[in-house]
Amino acid sequence: MQSSGGVGRRHSSGRRGCAGGSAQSSRSAHQDAVQWSVPHRPDLPVWYGERRVDAAFPLDPGTRGGRGGGECGPRGDQRQPRKTNMMGMMADGTSRVSWNDQQVRQFMGVSTLSQYTVVADISVAKIHQDAPLDKVYLLGCGVSTGYGAACKTAQVEKDSTCAVFGLGAVGLAAVMGCRAAGASKIIAVDINPKKFKLAQELGATECINPLDHKPRPIQEVLKEKTQGGVDYALECVGNPTVTSEALESTVDAWGVCVAVGWSDAGPINVDVDELLVGRTLKGTYFGGCKGADYVPVLVDKYMKKELKLDEFITHRLSLGEVNKALELLKTGESIRSVISLW
Ligand SMILES: NC(=O)c1ccc[n+]([C@@H]2O[C@H](COP(=O)([O-])OP(=O)(O)OC[C@H]3O[C@@H](n4cnc5c(N)ncnc54)[C@H](O)[C@@H]3O)[C@@H](O)[C@H]2O)c1
Repeated sequence: MQSSGGVGRRHSSGRRGCAGGSAQSSRSAHQDAVQWSVPHRPDLPVWYGERRVDAAFPLDPGTRGGRGGGECGPRGDQRQPRKTNMMGMMADGTSRVSWNDQQVRQFMGVSTLSQYTVVADISVAKIHQDAPLDKVYLLGCGVSTGYGAACKTAQVEKDSTCAVFGLGAVGLAAVMGCRAAGASKIIAVDINPKKFKLAQELGATECINPLDHKPRPIQEVLKEKTQGGVDYALECVGNPTVTSEALESTVDAWGVCVAVGWSDAGPINVDVDELLVGRTLKGTYFGGCKGADYVPVLVDKYMKKELKLDEFITHRLSLGEVNKALELLKTGESIRSVISLW
């Protein structure tokens, strides 16, 4: 698999930096769509596609591959994703694609909307031989991000209280992560109540629609419900106002808020007092996961029925229906659509 990274099923190694992959089976285009509207996006021309599950093979079998640091790894510019994969470059600052002698940016460093692509070894994860490709592709971005945001970035603890803002695939996965970490109270917050049923199935102990409490700020409602605030809040919307609400809904002395959503709607408004009393505000990229190492762990969890994925797939569509898939996402009717290319 290649995901803002990826998952390769059988041959997942590559030259120090490179592996090829062919004939993709299924994918979702949400991040591609989101990237059109955020400030850190690659210059055109860009070859899109942010994840893929498929066979991958090494371009130079003599060198090691299939492991490495993902975005947070130790090798050079991997420490600067805003200069590499967010800008359409591989970790070594190059792209392997050109058109009429012009360099073409590789979206998220992978460019998977194609029959073949070349990616860095750190973007490839070798996964369980029998994993169903049309399900585990979800681990190429959204589900790993939400789950990792709870388990790795926030490091949610047993018996803690959590609030998850936004119940798309990322937030729902964060709910699942909070439950896996043993949180005793998981409050799911969304302005679309159609999301609540699935949130409860995945572990939410309570669901709240902020619109039902207007004009009261949602952070006040959450503080009242939790006698002072939640231990962990995860913002999975992509709205700086909601990030402030999430931060302010955490408990004064040790609350942790993780910003997961992308946004181009300006800076977060943070009152310094909120931090001085002991809160932490963190961000996360791909849930703090090193794709090559952690995606196979999540695939194995799915195979052992310790992680849910099927529930996230609400629609199956053909490539000709790709605009419908984007519309379904925009209107909140879908969580994720699988688009079959063949
Ligand atoms: N940090 C990362 O590495 C990373 C990776 C993938 C996605 N993301 C970002 O995570 C965010 C969520 O992704 P998604 O695919 O789940 O999106 P989505 O659009 O499917 O879901 C967002 C949810 O937020 C809800 N919402 C909107 N306004 C709200 C408000 N004021 N209060 C509460 N809920 C509100 C919507 O109803 C929707 O259910 C996006 O911004 C996406 O770009 C970040």
